[in-house]
Order: sequence, then structure tokens, then C-alpha cells
Amino acid sequence: MPADRTHWDEVYGARTEAALTWFEAEPGLSLSLITTYAAPNDPVIDIGGGASRVMDALIALGFSRLSCLDLSQAALEASEARLGDRAGEVNWIAADVTHWAPRPAAYALWHDRAAFHFLTAPDQRAAYVARMAMALRSGGHAVIMTFAEDGPETCSGLPVQRYSPASLAAELDRHAPGGFVPVTSARHLHRTPKGAEQAFQVSVLRRT
Ligand SMILES: C[S@@+](CC[C@H](N)C(=O)[O-])C[C@H]1O[C@@H](n2cnc3c(N)ncnc32)[C@H](O)[C@@H]1O
Repeated sequence: MPADRTHWDEVYGARTEAALTWFEAEPGLSLSLITTYAAPNDPVIDIGGGASRVMDALIALGFSRLSCLDLSQAALEASEARLGDRAGEVNWIAADVTHWAPRPAAYALWHDRAAFHFLTAPDQRAAYVARMAMALRSGGHAVIMTFAEDGPETCSGLPVQRYSPASLAAELDRHAPGGFVPVTSARHLHRTPKGAEQAFQVSVLRRT
């Protein structure tokens, strides 16, 4: 089993939801962006979705073509247990996004809150961006949230790569030249369950 997967399985196995610094009871920003750029009958995937409540909220809004991918089987099982009967409405994918083989043009919207920033090696980022470019249909959107340039240097004890909207767009362009056009971006402050503030950048990009 890859070391990273062991790490994440231990994190999700050992801590309650509210002890995760990234926990959100209401994923408001994600929902507002997803519903701006995708309709309920559009295929949507959450990359590194973990045990977040994004799937729960999208099911409640009538989204019917949902996928959630995460390295950690434990995280996906936590979400499935929480959703109960509704878990069957989601395609759960236990995989490392950098090794996953997506179906070409399968998705209209790719959402990633705090997964891409763990890819600190250029070859990992190249693998991620190649998969995002393949998986998103032309005209589809990527919503990517990472720690901002003045955000934390680590998350869950692991180093992260921090971005501004411009440096994120440049990184995507490096690996998929001309493949993504920035649409909008914002700065977002996440308050952890213990009350600390974490600065994120949030970018929406359109697949050309
Ligand atoms: C900080 S958590 C955020 C989880 C979720 N997006 C949220 O907002 O609650 C990062 C997630 O990315 C997942 N992850 C990290 N590296 C990954 C990879 N290479 N492939 C897939 N998932 C990964 C972890 O298992 C973890 O669930």
C-alpha cells in the first residue's frame, strides 16, 4: 500500500470529523461554485473528496451523476456510512488521482478542495493535470482550491505547494498548454474547527 494512502487511512480512521482541520459542516463555497458551473444532470467529480459533505449536499440538490475519488478507502467508507441508503447515488473511486485512468471527457465539472496542493513534485502535478485535461469535457470547468501563498506550509503533517490564482493557472498551463482558461478566482479564509484561519485561493478554469 502506498505510504500516502496509509497516512490518509490513519488520519480518517483515528480522528472524528470535527478534529480534521479542513472539516466544514456546510461546504458553502464549493456548493455555490459547483451549482454556478454545473447543472444537476451534469457529471461532477470531487477529487480528494475525502469524508467531506459535498456529495450529501449535491444529492440533496438533485445532482444525479456524481463521482467522488480519494486515495483513502477509509475516508470514502466514512462518507458512505454517513449517507446510508443514498450512498448508492455516488460512484466512489478509491484511487491515487495521479495514477487513475479516467474516461475521456467524462465530466462537466472537476472539484478539488485541498488535494492538488499535496502534489509537491513536478511529475505528480504533470500526472494530475494530464488526467484533469483528459477527464473534463471541452467547455467543462475545474474548481480548484489550494492553500494561498500566505496559507499554511503543511496540512495534516504533510508539506504542501501553495498557489496564487496566477501561479496555479501557470502550473496548469505548463502541463497542459492552452488546456485551461481562467474564469474567476477569489481568496477564501477557512476557519478550522479549533478557530484558526487558513488562507485559500479558489480558482475556476474552463477546459478549452
Ligand atoms: C485536506 S483533505 C480534503 C478533503 C476534502 N476535499 C474536504 O474538503 O474535506 C485532502 C484529501 O485529499 C486526499 N488525497 C491526497 N492525495 C491524494 C491523491 N494523490 N489522490 C487522491 N486523493 C488524494 C486525501 O486522502 C484527503 O482526503
